[in-house]
Amino acid sequence: MSHMSARLASILSILFCICNLANPAMAKKLELPGHLKLTFYSHEIWDGPNATLLLAAGTGQGQNNMSATGMGTIYVFDNPLKTGPSNDSKVVGHSSGTAVATTMQPIMTGGLYMTADHIFDKSSKYNGSRITVIGTVLQAHKPYELLVPGGLGYFLGCSGYASVSSVPNITAPAHVCKWDFNLKCH
Ligand SMILES: *[C@@H]1O[C@H](CO)[C@@H](O)[C@H](O)[C@H]1NC(C)=O
Ligand SMILES: *[C@@H]1O[C@H](CO)[C@@H](O)[C@H](O)[C@H]1NC(C)=O
Ligand SMILES: *[C@@H]1O[C@H](CO)[C@@H](O)[C@H](O)[C@H]1NC(C)=O
Ligand SMILES: *[C@@H]1O[C@H](CO)[C@@H](O)[C@H](O)[C@H]1NC(C)=O
Ligand SMILES: *[C@@H]1O[C@H](CO)[C@@H](O)[C@H](O)[C@H]1NC(C)=O
Repeated sequence: MSHMSARLASILSILFCICNLANPAMAKKLELPGHLKLTFYSHEIWDGPNATLLLAAGTGQGQNNMSATGMGTIYVFDNPLKTGPSNDSKVVGHSSGTAVATTMQPIMTGGLYMTADHIFDKSSKYNGSRITVIGTVLQAHKPYELLVPGGLGYFLGCSGYASVSSVPNITAPAHVCKWDFNLKCH
């Protein structure tokens, strides 16, 4: 191989690598239907040694009784994301983020402002992909709707909203939320 063609080959191999890196997300993006509806369940535990939601700062009231939360309270959570509401449903990832009591009203109707990433793991076909949500839960008007500004990996180019509701009859300290995602993908 001449000096020139060796150089060309190395440039081409770099380009090829870059394309390879870009490819998985792009290829998956092309497979996406215009409209994506997905449902997942986040499983929170509010108390005890396996708590997945922690009161990180604030008034100190509300770790195991959210009604007692005062303005300025910050929660951090890392909840398993499952395919169903029951404890033994398949885990497909986790929902991690923060929630802040930003209201002067009683928290249960005043709202809790949250941002979170729903991150899918290897047991999901969306392995490594994520959906970001931003918005207020626990406000006066149900259902709670959060903005999905975007996603990454499989969800690159998708945006829309998520509707979130509590699954009834789950006994404390466990708390299960149903997440219905309505996404438009370009
Ligand atoms: C906490 O998790 C561990 C490991 O999964 C489990 O063995 C234990 O029973 C759990 N404790 C409670 C109180 O749920
Ligand atoms: C939770 O907190 C609210 C508001 O402070 C209070 O009225 C209620 O009694 C508490 N519930 C429990 C089970 O402690
Ligand atoms: C849910 O399952 C986990 C482990 O699989 C266990 O530690 C926990 O006690 C269970 N929780 C309930 C409420 O059954
Ligand atoms: C999931 O993604 C990780 C990181 O990209 C990768 O190492 C792993 O092989 C993937 N697993 C499956 C089952 O797709
Ligand atoms: C929840 O429990 C209440 C009272 O026990 C019952 O009336 C209701 O049907 C239950 N809901 C579900 C979805 O199981």
